[in-house]
Amino acid sequence: MFNQVTVIGAGLMGSGIAAHLANAGVNVLLLDVPSDKQGNKNYLADNALKKLLKIKPSPLTLSSNIKKIKTGNIEDHLKLINECDWVIEAIIENLNIKEHLYQKIEKIMKDDLIISSNTSTIPLNHLTKKRNNKFKANFFITHFFNPPRYLRLLEIVDSKNSDQKLKNKIIEFCDIRLGKTVVQCNDTPGFIGNRIGVYWMMKAAVDAIAFDLSVEEADLIISKIFGAPKTGVFGLLDLVGLDLMPHVLDSMLSNVKKEDEYNNFSDYPEIFNYMLENNLVGRKAQGGFYKLEKLNGKNVKYSINLKTKEYSISQKANIESLKLGNKDIRKFLDQDDKFSSYAWSVLSSTIEYTLN
Ligand code: NAI
Repeated sequence: MFNQVTVIGAGLMGSGIAAHLANAGVNVLLLDVPSDKQGNKNYLADNALKKLLKIKPSPLTLSSNIKKIKTGNIEDHLKLINECDWVIEAIIENLNIKEHLYQKIEKIMKDDLIISSNTSTIPLNHLTKKRNNKFKANFFITHFFNPPRYLRLLEIVDSKNSDQKLKNKIIEFCDIRLGKTVVQCNDTPGFIGNRIGVYWMMKAAVDAIAFDLSVEEADLIISKIFGAPKTGVFGLLDLVGLDLMPHVLDSMLSNVKKEDEYNNFSDYPEIFNYMLENNLVGRKAQGGFYKLEKLNGKNVKYSINLKTKEYSISQKANIESLKLGNKDIRKFLDQDDKFSSYAWSVLSSTIEYTLN
């Protein structure tokens, strides 16, 4: 079992994975790129720890678990990976940048060091194409979902070169120590969860605009009809970070066949471009589709208008036909209004894509 793990990339996922490992009693080394902020090269990882203590719901089971996480930067501390059993890479979703890091790891790694990537979309055979046999044998994709403490699913991908003993070690550890349900996936773009999930999210967002729904209306329908959490689709995009979507989509588009329906999403909705340009990328920024702002000393929730791009105080969606649909989904889908048309469009298209 693993007692010492390095996580590289102290962003949303890396810091969340580090916290969950610490929850399981593992000593973690959390590395990011060197920073020149406040004269502290470890600033990015240090700052990630500060954020972990503030995030709600908490990524930590006990706030004192944070002491299990040591911080550093890849320039000064990469060599410390050999004091660990496993390195989890959770850096930006960009093949070239990931390859560059792997090249550095390959040069110094000990024989039995396990390396895995948290990539959402990049196939394993692309990630390891330029690596030597030892790296290939020890490399896996371990795809944690956001937030890592709370989501049970963990996808694992291996290749014909993979050392099966190491794979079984990861599966056992993630099951028993981290409480995950580990699903073994083929090395296909987006694996299982994201191949279908990102399609569904994009379709739900694009159609909400096409059917002229508010973000609240779309989120209510998506959570009720799909049994998704209350975040629906736009709340989920805020949670995941809209800035991740271009990387995920570009990666997906460059890996799927040209007749794949993902190609319908090659042009982003205008509102996405506007929000990306203005750093309205969600909870990690000043806001996204929703934002909280102080009004007369109280936190007030605002939401963006998908057409005018303006914020106003968030209004609870009130969809009469959905109240009926709670009892009978078919009856809701049979209604002749834009809400049921939207739900049917997203649902039927996602099912059709999944079947294809
Ligand atoms: P993020 O943008 O929040 O964090 C990325 C971090 O990596 C940043 O702190 C950045 O400074 C650091 N970084 C960039 N290049 C680096 C390098 N060469 N060496 C060390 N650190 C470096 O990104 P996020 O969302 O945490 O995503 C990380 C990975 O996890 C990506 O592969 C993404 O596809 C995947 N993922 C993301 C999920 C999400 O919900 N955001 C869910 C599941 C997987």
